[in-house]
Amino acid sequence: MKPLPRAPNNNLTDQHQASQKLISEQEARLTQLASQLLAANASLEREITDRLSKEDEFRRSTEQLRELSARLQSVREEERTRLSRAIHDELGQALTGLKMDVAWLQKHLDQQQPALLEKTQAMSDLIDIIVQAVRRIATELRPGILDLSLVATIEWQLQEFQTRSGIQGKLISAPEETTLDADGATTVFRIFQEILTNVTRHAQATQIEVNVEENATFLTLHVQDNGRGITENEIHSSKSIGLLGMRERARLRAGEVHFQGTPGKGTTVTVRLPLSMNN
Ligand SMILES: Nc1ncnc2c1ncn2[C@@H]1O[C@H](COP(=O)(O)OP(=O)(O)O)[C@@H](O)[C@H]1O
Ligand SMILES: [Mg+2]
Repeated sequence: MKPLPRAPNNNLTDQHQASQKLISEQEARLTQLASQLLAANASLEREITDRLSKEDEFRRSTEQLRELSARLQSVREEERTRLSRAIHDELGQALTGLKMDVAWLQKHLDQQQPALLEKTQAMSDLIDIIVQAVRRIATELRPGILDLSLVATIEWQLQEFQTRSGIQGKLISAPEETTLDADGATTVFRIFQEILTNVTRHAQATQIEVNVEENATFLTLHVQDNGRGITENEIHSSKSIGLLGMRERARLRAGEVHFQGTPGKGTTVTVRLPLSMNN
């Protein structure tokens, strides 16, 4: 039998050529993909650098805002101290002088002129009223007692709060005195005032309890009311500017303020300040 004629080798060559073509097409595709990836990578890198520098800028401007707010806060406090002293001392002295003059007049007036006597008595009474108002305004700006004792100031403010709001205020425990410096005492006092304002405005409480504690490193102030209880939403809301202000004030002294509410049971605010800024 004759052997079958061999298929021409052409077939193999075709296959080889076809797969070569496929390979080079794939190679071209891969090269194109690689260059697309490189371009995407470069653009991502640019975006990351951009974002990092924006974050940096954001951090810097946040820091600047904080510094500005701290500066405004301390200028405001200095201004209040200055005004309070000026009102108390200068106006107070002038009024005392006036009161003495009116008393002199009363003594030297002709006792047969009741209308004049009555008039000077009315003037004297009016001066007493103005003296009271001057004292009240000076104290509202900044109580002088704050320079002497934080604990005594808290006690006094609590009494004022009780008289004004009708909410019972109890100082449960406090050290004889704190070792906190004047600046720290002002910070705690201003936060305390803000807490009391919030109790009056929002808590629907009938009673608050205050505790002051001091150990070797920290002063802690707890204020607990028996009202409706602040909610988590209110604590974290960006609209709660008052709470933010308290936190920022404490932060400036390396301290913190913590809020906790239980529905129907009340709210506790805890303020903690290191006794020295180096802690
Ligand atoms: N002691 C409290 N008891 C219940 N809710 C409170 C108390 N303190 C604050 N809140 C709630 O938290 C919110 C935020 O307080 P704050 O930032 O001081 O703002 P506001 O200007 O309303 O006083 C208040 O509007 C109130 O709803
Ligand atoms: Mg408030």
